[in-house]
Amino acid sequence: MCAMPTEDATAEVSADETVAETGERDQFSGNLGFILAAVGSAIGLGNIWRFPFITAANGGAAFVLVYLGLLVVMGLPVLLAEIAVGRKAQLNAVGAYRDAGEQGETWKYAGLLGVVAALTVLSFYAVVAGWTIQYVLGSVTGAYFGDPGTYLQGILEGPSAILFQLIFMSLTAMVIAAGVSDGIENTVEVLMPALFLILGGLAIYAFTLDGAGAGYSFFLSPEWGIFTDYGSLPALLVDAAGQAAFTLSLGQAALITYGSYLGKDRDLSGSSLAVVVGNTSASFLAALAVFPMLASFGILGTAGGVETTFQALPAFFASLDLWGRVLGVAFFSVLAMGAFTSAISLLEIPVSYAVDEFGVERWKAAVLIAEAVALFGLLSALDQDFLTMADQIAVNLLIVTGIFLISVYAGWYFPDLKEEVNRGANYVKLGGFAQIMLRYVTPVLLLVLVLFSYYDFACNTVGLC
Ligand code: PHE
Repeated sequence: MCAMPTEDATAEVSADETVAETGERDQFSGNLGFILAAVGSAIGLGNIWRFPFITAANGGAAFVLVYLGLLVVMGLPVLLAEIAVGRKAQLNAVGAYRDAGEQGETWKYAGLLGVVAALTVLSFYAVVAGWTIQYVLGSVTGAYFGDPGTYLQGILEGPSAILFQLIFMSLTAMVIAAGVSDGIENTVEVLMPALFLILGGLAIYAFTLDGAGAGYSFFLSPEWGIFTDYGSLPALLVDAAGQAAFTLSLGQAALITYGSYLGKDRDLSGSSLAVVVGNTSASFLAALAVFPMLASFGILGTAGGVETTFQALPAFFASLDLWGRVLGVAFFSVLAMGAFTSAISLLEIPVSYAVDEFGVERWKAAVLIAEAVALFGLLSALDQDFLTMADQIAVNLLIVTGIFLISVYAGWYFPDLKEEVNRGANYVKLGGFAQIMLRYVTPVLLLVLVLFSYYDFACNTVGLC
């Protein structure tokens, strides 16, 4: 791990002379590198694990329609806004909120909230990612084939959870230490195509299984009743919006940070569309792979979550013996790769903050912050209840607050939004309609989401009502 020449230069930047002013900032070498990095951030445990089950549990195709609608009215505008704020300022989350628009001295705390959210998510995300590595290895050796349930209990908490969390964090830190183009971009250029190839292969294989049809209909059969069940409609909207935000990596300045490494001639709206389409495709491919497998094994009804991914599917792989090992390696590698490219974006958020604002050398920031996160993550690696709590605090409080804040900032305090988006746009330019959406529709929608989410957290997580 050695520092790049450019980073040495950034280390010498004094506090009042930002990296942006010295022009020494690393950049993505092209639109494709940026898109792959942003898609890599987006595709993760949220797509392969969360999406299939949240859909099946919430009315199938009816939920998918709500979710897709929210991706368009909320996900895409917020994504675009984050990238535009980052690209405008050419600075980390805190610096970008401070410098891109008006009243920055107040708004910089929204950036700080993003940094805190990223650190919190990374602390438990790395633990779950560690499980996926253990399952790749377990598929190779067949270690879980005898008794998937016991294997799962053995790896969730304790020494092996800690060990693999540390391995995962070290790998993530190495990529970040190498820089944006040499580290992040080179990694996602290999891993993203591989992930899509393997996931596509798994979906095709699943199509050939007996009972695939039952799997598809379990996933998608629409329950239109959800639209008229007014009592549960708000909770459904919150679920769909939360999923849309988490899966696109919104609300914690990941895209502000990546956007800050984009050149001024890059196409922001085209890239944003590509990210949403790429991320949604991965979610659907994952569902099309997972449900037929569960259906063919006769365990379609099992609840979602940890047990299904790390116990029911492994039981199916175990039943296939040698072929099951191949499938197991393929499936858990996809999970591990998705988690890795997401974790990379999460670590980059605090690292770019340390580099830009405090002049810390990149590699030092990467190592020190990764160590601190790993230390905090020990709590999640030792106690599952803590992990669940960290997840809920991060998603239901920090991230939803983050997307609400960026939407208000973009709509009301960032007058250059339209100019920034349209500079370099090849296909889609931001017009009056989009601006009205960003000013009036998205913030109001998100305010409702935030309030429901807080209420849900207070009632169901803390148990206040
Ligand atoms: N989008 C990632 C997923 O779906 C999670 C993530 C959230 C990653 C925020 C980075 C930032 O798993």
